[in-house]
Amino acid sequence: MKKILITGGAGYIGSHTAVELIENGTEIAVVDNLVNSSEESLKRVEKITGGSVKFYNADIRDAAALDKIFAENDVGGVIHFAGLKAVGESVSMPLEYYENNIGGTLTLLFAMKKAGVKKLIFSSSATVYGDPERLPIDEASPLSTTNPYGSTKLFIEQILKDLYVSDKTWNITLLRYFNPVGAHKSGLIGEDPKGIPNNLTPYIAQVASGKLERVNVFGDDYPTPDGTGVRDYIHVCDLAAGHALALKKMTAPGVHIFNLGTGIGYSVLQMIAAFEKACGKKLPYSICPRRPGDIASCYAKVDKALNELGFKAKYGIDEMCASLWKWQTLNPDGYKK
Ligand code: NAD
Ligand code: UFG
Repeated sequence: MKKILITGGAGYIGSHTAVELIENGTEIAVVDNLVNSSEESLKRVEKITGGSVKFYNADIRDAAALDKIFAENDVGGVIHFAGLKAVGESVSMPLEYYENNIGGTLTLLFAMKKAGVKKLIFSSSATVYGDPERLPIDEASPLSTTNPYGSTKLFIEQILKDLYVSDKTWNITLLRYFNPVGAHKSGLIGEDPKGIPNNLTPYIAQVASGKLERVNVFGDDYPTPDGTGVRDYIHVCDLAAGHALALKKMTAPGVHIFNLGTGIGYSVLQMIAAFEKACGKKLPYSICPRRPGDIASCYAKVDKALNELGFKAKYGIDEMCASLWKWQTLNPDGYKK
């Protein structure tokens, strides 16, 4: 059986997808330079699944390393997670983001072409919808970006569309994730942010564990029911299942585009309340000014993924928060001992 190569597979979404694929009987290999992850996550993937992961500690910008990976493995397709993802950091380090995300993707595509592997799933993001014109956001909504990170996603989408126009044997799926949260039910793998988390739910989890003092709520004057920002939070295990379904449905060449979300928007205050329920304590928070670049509301129209992939998120916010709290409690310092 051919293997699936997972770039960035030691990271948050990649490690959960690795579990999902192994449990579905798919053989995998992982390439990751560990710039934002730890090899320990893959040891935990093996522990959860009882399977084995062939790991390459390499950078996807290293063409020779990629050639070696394709030579040593009978790869049938690639799921491409590898990339830098911090919005704020991308504003201060745009060149590094363009070089890593776009440069890395180009090197990967050349290596795939050379190896004759033309099946690819790319991790895109709801960020490509910019400040959405309509809600819920469907896949045909206008695209725009507001920061270099988002621009790397949009440019890579365009590169992949151009690639397909040039060679109609490529089979490409763009998955636009909404807000991935939560952790595997074992509590063995989860999100391990470096330093102070930028994203809401890991921040809340660190307030609950006593590492951070209070949640900063970025704005309560948005045109939303309680004035705080609304997002479509999706359990990372649902997201992982979405990749397995997408892979199974990639039977014909083309560029296939899907939102992966739940279709439901929750506000910052609703997420804090859900987390209080999960951890059993009151969580202090302060209303702060809006975070520059944030939008009011973002949630997905999910019909296309349902109709064409058979994808429907199984988990709600209670399970998202409970699984995150379990991961946080069992691993207060992430993958560090
Ligand atoms: P992550 O940082 O946990 O995982 C990304 C992995 O890629 C890391 O393990 C990192 O070490 C690796 N990597 C980065 N550059 C590399 C390179 N040049 N060569 C090899 N490996 C490299 O992030 P994640 O949350 O798991 O995100 C996975 C993908 O999904 C990313 O492309 C991200 O932009 C996208 N995405 C994430 C979110 C989110 O909120 N987490 C939302 C939408 C899209
Ligand atoms: N928020 C707070 N306090 C915090 C952090 C966030 O109030 O400490 C608010 C934000 O203002 C926003 C909501 O919580 O209203 C969610 O913010 P996140 O930072 O968790 O997520 P974003 O929606 O800003 O962005 C995330 C990823 C992006 C990705 C996008 C869509 O960080 O990379 O989801 O997938 F593009």
